[in-house]
Amino acid sequence: MTETTFTPRVFSGIQPSGGLTLGNYLGAIKRFVDMQGADYQTIYCMVDLHAITVWQDPEALRRSTRELCAGFIASGIDPDQSILINQSQVPEHAQLGWVFNCVARMGWMQRMTQFKDKAGKNAQNASLGLFAYPSLMAADILIYHATHVPVGEDQKQHLELTRDIAAKFNHDYGVDFFPITEPVIEGAATRVMSLRDGSKKMSKSDPSDASRLNMTDDADTIAKKIRKAKTDPEPLPSEMAGLEDRPEARNLVNIFAALNDQSPDAVLAEMGGKQFSEFKPLLAELAVEKLSPISSEMARLMQHTDEIDRILSHGAEQARAITAPILAKTYEIIGMVGPKVI
Ligand code: TRP
Repeated sequence: MTETTFTPRVFSGIQPSGGLTLGNYLGAIKRFVDMQGADYQTIYCMVDLHAITVWQDPEALRRSTRELCAGFIASGIDPDQSILINQSQVPEHAQLGWVFNCVARMGWMQRMTQFKDKAGKNAQNASLGLFAYPSLMAADILIYHATHVPVGEDQKQHLELTRDIAAKFNHDYGVDFFPITEPVIEGAATRVMSLRDGSKKMSKSDPSDASRLNMTDDADTIAKKIRKAKTDPEPLPSEMAGLEDRPEARNLVNIFAALNDQSPDAVLAEMGGKQFSEFKPLLAELAVEKLSPISSEMARLMQHTDEIDRILSHGAEQARAITAPILAKTYEIIGMVGPKVI
């Protein structure tokens, strides 16, 4: 009853709440595209059940889910190469999530910094779902026996929890059933910061729209936001070491590097000595060149939401071929009566 070899399988998810930002694209989607291909089976998910841990307007949620799917496809995720799903159409995520609620410990959950940040001062009024969020995230990953999970820096603690849940499950039931997942955290712009404050992550929930580039912004808006981005009066240095105490400058260099598939040091080798008055227009030009084909393709796809829905229901079917047997096996391991699993 033991399973010790796992097919290399990539899983990752993004919340469909609000629009897509450059942070989602560079920190996540672009890397998802790079992982597509021969080495792994890739599964990418719009985590709608995670989104409702804080209240969402139903129509806006439906729209965000489809727009995120359009964003994935426009950025190069190919539904013939990757499984694209929205979480709620694959019920085994939530079912395994319940089992993991019974494996994870209160003390583990209380240490999660994202919960503390999101719940803020009024934690008593946060939903129970927001508290249990990381346990559902562990289920998202482990219901596929995923081995590799590309995420941003801020999800590291949740991935450690996923490993703890897998290890405790395996230990408590004396099995080697769930893999110990590898986080994949890399890339110059893994952490894209706000254009107004280099110490804060670029976020779709920041009240200032000038703090982020949205994937749906037009060329003028992109150029304007970059022109207004906070910087400092110094010229660019010729290597990254010179940007240690200059978070805003570092962020813009990281963004340039990620958009241009270069290392930040390679960018500075060329741009060192330039003032921001010269660098910003180059960055704006590059951003428009890379992002506008994506935003126009997203707009085109959003004219055909029936096609998006078809892709997601096909994805759910493919996903369930993987998740249903893993859930059935899990239920058998923990002692649920059901049909015999081989
Ligand atoms: N928690 C992730 C975020 O906020 C989204 C997410 C949900 C996820 N389930 C996942 C990421 C599983 C990777 C794997 O960004």
